[in-house]
Amino acid sequence: MAPSRRDFVRASGAVAGLAAVRPFDILLRRHRPAPLKILILGGTGFIGPYQVQYALDRGHTVTLFNRGKTNPQLFPTVEKLTGDRASDLSALAGREWDLVIDNSATDPTWVERSASLLQKAVKRYLFVSTRSVYVDTSRVPMTVDAPVCTRENTPVPEGKPLPYCLAKGLAEAVVRKYFGDRTLIVRPSLIVGPGDLTDRFTYWPVRIERGGEVLAPGDGNDYVQVIDARDLCEWMIRLGEMGTTGTYNGLGPKTPRLFSELLHGIKAVTTSEATFTWVDADFLEQHQVRPYQEMPVWMPSKGARAGFGRFDISREVELGLTFRPLAVTARDTLDYYHAQPADRQEKLRAGITAEREEEVLAAWRARQR
Ligand SMILES: NC(=O)c1ccc[n+]([C@@H]2O[C@H](COP(=O)([O-])OP(=O)(O)OC[C@H]3O[C@@H](n4cnc5c(N)ncnc54)[C@H](OP(=O)(O)O)[C@@H]3O)[C@@H](O)[C@H]2O)c1
Repeated sequence: MAPSRRDFVRASGAVAGLAAVRPFDILLRRHRPAPLKILILGGTGFIGPYQVQYALDRGHTVTLFNRGKTNPQLFPTVEKLTGDRASDLSALAGREWDLVIDNSATDPTWVERSASLLQKAVKRYLFVSTRSVYVDTSRVPMTVDAPVCTRENTPVPEGKPLPYCLAKGLAEAVVRKYFGDRTLIVRPSLIVGPGDLTDRFTYWPVRIERGGEVLAPGDGNDYVQVIDARDLCEWMIRLGEMGTTGTYNGLGPKTPRLFSELLHGIKAVTTSEATFTWVDADFLEQHQVRPYQEMPVWMPSKGARAGFGRFDISREVELGLTFRPLAVTARDTLDYYHAQPADRQEKLRAGITAEREEEVLAAWRARQR
């Protein structure tokens, strides 16, 4: 059988992947890191399994702590401690690790419990925070020293839950309180790729693959930085191996992409003949098509969000943050999506519906006339 365009694109993706291997990567592969004892709080959702697998592949010993509810079938040979971050950490008592990776905490009281308990039992604490921790992202470029949410700049009405930004900001502060200069904080942007249950990035490959006229937000010149879960998780383990501490952002690529580059890059791994109709940001706002909601991943690069997709990640790249080609992320995301049951595929959890998209495009065409 003659190779299809998809075969070709896959093959070029693989070649692109090889081309992306840099001397630094080869060095890392040759260098056998000293084995670590790693405790992962969580470990069985989206990002955890990538950390676990990479850590095992590199010869580390991994222990998971969770409630045993999410994907309990994963990693049958890995030690699993059962408990609840809200109420019962007794399984962690009396044990020692080199590194704890805290994936599962958004509530700072959870972090207070785990960090106080592990303060003397663990050498370093890696807390998975978020880009959302910044009180605004107006700086261009953004860097880790930009202000984050605090009780002072983000007041919360009595009885209301903490907003995500503040919850993560307070949680970071708790880790620093107990671990001081043994603290490692990574602030990822949107984490994407196979296994993502939110479908925010996934919306785009799936929509583009469907073909036809695609509603594309803005003028294509807004900046975007996301992170493939595998790039993020593998980097976290390598940071652990190097004994790195401090605070870092986890996103890329180093030179931010334009949104048009993202969409065309995704299209290139499909056989789709989709066309993009770029619709003005103000027009979208008037039609209740919101950035990051109906138009996932997209944020207009202006005002308080001017730097949202423009982080300077020179330090992170120096410390070994690497990026798979977009083609690999997009293709693997599509393959993951197609491997899901039909009813799951029909219910995409993010992005504008086909009907609304057509309505907005029709209104845009009417205005152009
Ligand atoms: N998705 C994004 O785009 C994005 C962007 C920036 C930052 N982040 C951050 O990335 C992290 C997401 O990690 P993930 O969910 O993929 O991590 P994960 O470690 O793969 O999965 C979450 C784990 O938490 C455990 N867990 C949940 N509730 C628990 C409890 N009460 N006690 C003990 N364990 C509990 C779950 O197991 P059980 O259910 O069995 O307990 C599961 O193992 C979060 O910190 C999030 O804020 C995400």
